[in-house]
Amino acid sequence: MSDVAVVGGGIVGLSIAWRLVQRGVDVHVFDDGDVGAWHVAAGMLAPGGESEHEDPALIRLMERSADLWPGFAEGLGVEVGYDDAGTLSLAVTADDLAERSRLWTRQALPLLRPTELRELEPALSARVRAGVFASQEVQVDPRKVVNALRARLVDRIVTKRVDSLSEMDSRVVVVAAGCGTAALTGLPVRPVKGQVLRLRGEPGLLRHVLDAAVDGRPIYVVPRADGEVVVGATQEELTDRKITAGGVHELLRAALDLVPALAEFELIETTVGHRPGTPDNAPLLGWLDDHVVVAAGHFRNGILLAPITADLIADLVLGSSSPLLADFSPRRF
Ligand code: GLY
Repeated sequence: MSDVAVVGGGIVGLSIAWRLVQRGVDVHVFDDGDVGAWHVAAGMLAPGGESEHEDPALIRLMERSADLWPGFAEGLGVEVGYDDAGTLSLAVTADDLAERSRLWTRQALPLLRPTELRELEPALSARVRAGVFASQEVQVDPRKVVNALRARLVDRIVTKRVDSLSEMDSRVVVVAAGCGTAALTGLPVRPVKGQVLRLRGEPGLLRHVLDAAVDGRPIYVVPRADGEVVVGATQEELTDRKITAGGVHELLRAALDLVPALAEFELIETTVGHRPGTPDNAPLLGWLDDHVVVAAGHFRNGILLAPITADLIADLVLGSSSPLLADFSPRRF
């Protein structure tokens, strides 16, 4: 019997386990062997761009976690694609500009003209009307992060599907099972489908993350150093795993409208995943009862929030609760 069992081998569960191991706790991670949302995620660490509709407590949590990311990535001891080139947030039509302007005003970022934007990113379409440079919005490669975490926890991971918490005989169970948290705990975590594409071409076409509104469609284009470009994402209140013609068409049309030269890139992967949403789309972080801690429901921000979640949940398991957790109790619904 281990002291702590973490149910869920995604980026959140592994990060918590890593922090607990570092603090001398006897921990095992139960991983069902399925790939989680991290496998699909682009890895944008965007506390500003992803916070338009969020409440101040969640924005604070996102900002704190963004600050932790450089140290978290370095601590993994291998290259995980942490890239601080920053993000261009862009608008194509007048309506896109009106929609983005609210966000940009709140972020207090100066508006850049199309010529200034193309100096930063020469491959941008001439249709791009305006944008801002968000230097704090960076990226990491979630697949590399999960591989690095797995390597650090290699003797701690048990490949086993947990169907009921009554199977678990450890002192504490941490449920970090993403969408699977609902079946294990009864908590209201719902799957929100996202289709994501991966393209590959000549490295260096793009330098920055692009986060754009294109004819009313939100899209992000995330270039990796090796020539991979991640294009995401649909957001659908659906549970199926279908990659649809409409979803792929929507993403490709927006991406090519934004960066026409991507038409020459190879389409190497189409993926689908499910973000774990909650009724207020804020995470569930805290004790559910005196045996079970929950760390789930990170919705669009699982990658961004992994480091702060790991620290806060490790503290909680070891007996201290941060005021940062006050708004995220899993018992709030
Ligand atoms: N964080 C981006 C997404 O969920 O699509």
